[in-house]
Amino acid sequence: NNIPVITIDGPTASGKGTVAHLVAERLGFHMLDSGALYRLTALQALRREVPLTDEHAIAKLGEHLEVTFKGDAIYLGTENVAHAIRAEEVGNMASKIAALPTVRQALYSLQLAFRKTPGLVADGRDMGTVIFPGATLKVFLTASTEARAQRRYKQLIDKGFPAKMEDLLADLQARDARDMNRAVAPLAPAQDAHLLDTSQMSAADAVEQVLAWYAQVR
Ligand code: C5P
Repeated sequence: NNIPVITIDGPTASGKGTVAHLVAERLGFHMLDSGALYRLTALQALRREVPLTDEHAIAKLGEHLEVTFKGDAIYLGTENVAHAIRAEEVGNMASKIAALPTVRQALYSLQLAFRKTPGLVADGRDMGTVIFPGATLKVFLTASTEARAQRRYKQLIDKGFPAKMEDLLADLQARDARDMNRAVAPLAPAQDAHLLDTSQMSAADAVEQVLAWYAQVR
């Protein structure tokens, strides 16, 4: 498969979503927000009150996701849940179900299917390590915990969700620990990834850096 793929991985609120969308726009590529798939599965599990202990029931929800991405909208069936899946509660549940191997397995082929011409920008935790190990370009974004908490705070407030800085910091640290310490597909840069610390960097500058790296390998 020689359809180009750019993977952008990193911890929560590192800016990867924003950067990935802008890079995709600049190149006219498709976009995979893999975190949204975990969030959609989590939303279903919360709504149907499926307990975390029922790994197979949760994996089934992931396997049968009827999801359509359309611009900023994310449809689950006919309902636009783009807003609902950004709630902190859904993000926390997403990071819990993401540790379940059968759930990751269930979402595997769904993610591969996003690789279509003329190319794909995929953002997540394991895009460069597990899902697209042969990616054309791999980027790993980092940022200090404080910078990320600030961003998450702004994101939530802008979307009309309540937010408290100290809760966000605690959530972020708990989520980082879960993402980095899980047995399957833990959050870590691929050995051939370019590292980019965005603590002091605007999204626009990060985009330029990614495009410059891509220009060297395309
Ligand atoms: O990136 P986002 O915050 O939307 O992801 C929600 C959760 O989904 C993350 O905390 C992470 O645990 C999980 N995730 C993952 N692998 C991915 C993308 C997201 O485990 N590729």
